[in-house]
Amino acid sequence: MQIQALSQSVREVKSDALIIGVVRGAGDKGLLLTASAKEVDTQLAGSISESYTTGEFKGNLGELLTLHSLGRLVSRRVIIVGLGSEERVNGQSIRRASAIAARYAQNTGAQQIVLALQGNGGVEVALAVQAEVEGALLGLYSFRSYQSNGKNGNRVSQIQVLSEGSSTDEFEDAIHKGQALAEATNTARDLINEPPNVLTPTELANRAKAMAERSGLECEVFDKSKITELGMGGLLAVSKGSAEPPQFIILRYRGAGDQGEKGVALVGKGITFDTGGISLKPAAGMDEMKGDMGGAAAVIGAMQAIAALKPNINVTGLVPTCENRPSSTSYLPGDILRILNGKTIEIVNTDAEGRLVLADALSYAVQENLSPIVDLATLTGGIVVALGHIFTGLFCNDEQLSSDIIAAGKAAGEKYWPMPLDDDYKEQISSEVADIKQTGGRAASSVTAAKILENFVGGTSWAHLDIAGTSFIEGKKPYQEHGATGVGVRTLAELVLKRAK
Ligand code: BES
Ligand code: MN
Ligand code: ZN
Repeated sequence: MQIQALSQSVREVKSDALIIGVVRGAGDKGLLLTASAKEVDTQLAGSISESYTTGEFKGNLGELLTLHSLGRLVSRRVIIVGLGSEERVNGQSIRRASAIAARYAQNTGAQQIVLALQGNGGVEVALAVQAEVEGALLGLYSFRSYQSNGKNGNRVSQIQVLSEGSSTDEFEDAIHKGQALAEATNTARDLINEPPNVLTPTELANRAKAMAERSGLECEVFDKSKITELGMGGLLAVSKGSAEPPQFIILRYRGAGDQGEKGVALVGKGITFDTGGISLKPAAGMDEMKGDMGGAAAVIGAMQAIAALKPNINVTGLVPTCENRPSSTSYLPGDILRILNGKTIEIVNTDAEGRLVLADALSYAVQENLSPIVDLATLTGGIVVALGHIFTGLFCNDEQLSSDIIAAGKAAGEKYWPMPLDDDYKEQISSEVADIKQTGGRAASSVTAAKILENFVGGTSWAHLDIAGTSFIEGKKPYQEHGATGVGVRTLAELVLKRAK
C-alpha cells in the first residue's frame, strides 16, 4: 500500500473516515484537543466537547466516537479515538488506538482513511507517526485468501497521514519505518495462518526465497542430503515420519559488509505441523499446530523488516523446518540422537520436537561464530500455563542482551518476562544413557526445555523466546483478528536497529 503525508487542513481533507486521536487530561481537565481536533469540534458545533460533557465519550484508550460531518467537512465521517489519560499516552497507546479505529473503519465500509493521531501528549511526532501507521496496518490485517470474493466486505486500500505543517522528510521516514515493521509483521502472520497442506517445509523455503528476492537478501536452502551430510541429527529425526523432506533455510543481510563482525543470528522453530508424532497429541485444538512455525515466521518477517530499514550490521536468519508426524518411519521414544555439535539426546516424547530442530540450528549458529544468538519458538505448553497470552517467556544467559530485548519489546509494543536458567534445573534433564534427556517432566517444563537448548550455544551470548502463548491467539480483539499475531518480528527488528547504532 502507498501511504502518503497530506498537508491539507482538517476541513479540506477528503476521506471516507478521518481518524482523530484524543487524550483525556489529568484530574478534571477534560479532553485535551489537538489543533485538528479543535478545528473539527468547531466545524461540528462543539460535538466532541459535548459528548465528553454528557458522558458519551470519555477518551479511554481505544474508545470510539463516530461523528457524521453532514457536509460541514469534506470527509464523510470523523472517528474520534481515545488515547487514554495524558500521563500514560505513549507510542503503544497510539499504535493500539490506531489499530482499533482503522479496523472499525474498515469493518464499517471505509476504503480510504486519513490518520491524525499525532500531536497528542508528550509523544514526539516521528514516533507518533510511525506508531499510527504501524497500528493501522496491523489493525487492518485479515487473512481472507481462501474465502470467495467479497464475503467479508471491502477493505481499506488507501491511507494518508495528516501532516499539517510538519516537516515532510521527518514524516516520510516515520511512515516508512511504521510501514516496514507492520508489513513484515503481516508477512509473518500470513505464513502462520496458511494451512498446513499449503505451507509445507518446502513451501516455507520457497516463500523465504521469494521474500529474499523481493528484499535484496541472500537466501540459501539446505536439502535433506545436505542436512544428512552436515549431521543435523535432530532435524533429520523429527522429519523422518513425514513424506515431506526437511529444509534448513539461511537468510543473510550484510549491512556491515564482509569487514564487519559475523553478526547476529536469528533462529526460528519451523515445524509446519506438529501432530506430536508417535506421542500423538489429542485431537481437540490440534489444528492450532499449523502455527508451530511461528518462530520461523518471526525470523523471516524480521529479516524482511531489516532489509527495508537497512541498519549497518550483519544479520543471519536460520530456520530448521519439517513436519512432525506419526508413521512407520517416525523417530521413537527411546531413540538416541546425535545433534550437529556432537552431543547425544535420549528421546522420551516425540512431541518435544522443537528443541531437537533448534539444537541443530543453534549448533550451526555457534559453528558460524554468529553472536548474539536469539531464537524464537512456539516451544512449550508450560509457558502458556505460566504467562498466558500476554507475555513471551524470555530465557537468557546475558543480562545486557536480556534488558536490550525487553527494551526492544517496549519500543515494539511486545512484552517479555525474564524466566530462570538456573543450573539446579539440570537434574531434571540428566540421562542414564545419553548426554542429556530430551524432557524434564511436567514441573517447570518451559524452563527445562530452555535448559536443553542451552547445551547447544556453548559460551555464546544467547536468548530464547518461548512464544507458544503469544504467537497464535484464538478469538478476536478490537485491534486484531483471530489467529497469528506476528509476535517477535518488530522486537527483533528494533533489537537489531539498536545494536547497529
Ligand atoms: N508445539 C508444542 C508447544 C505448544 C503448545 C505450542 C501450545 C503452542 C501452543 C511443542 O512441540 C510441544 O508439543 N511441547 C510439549 C512438550 C512435552 C511433550 C515435553 C508441551 O509443552 O506440552
Ligand atoms: Mn510438539
Ligand atoms: Zn511443537
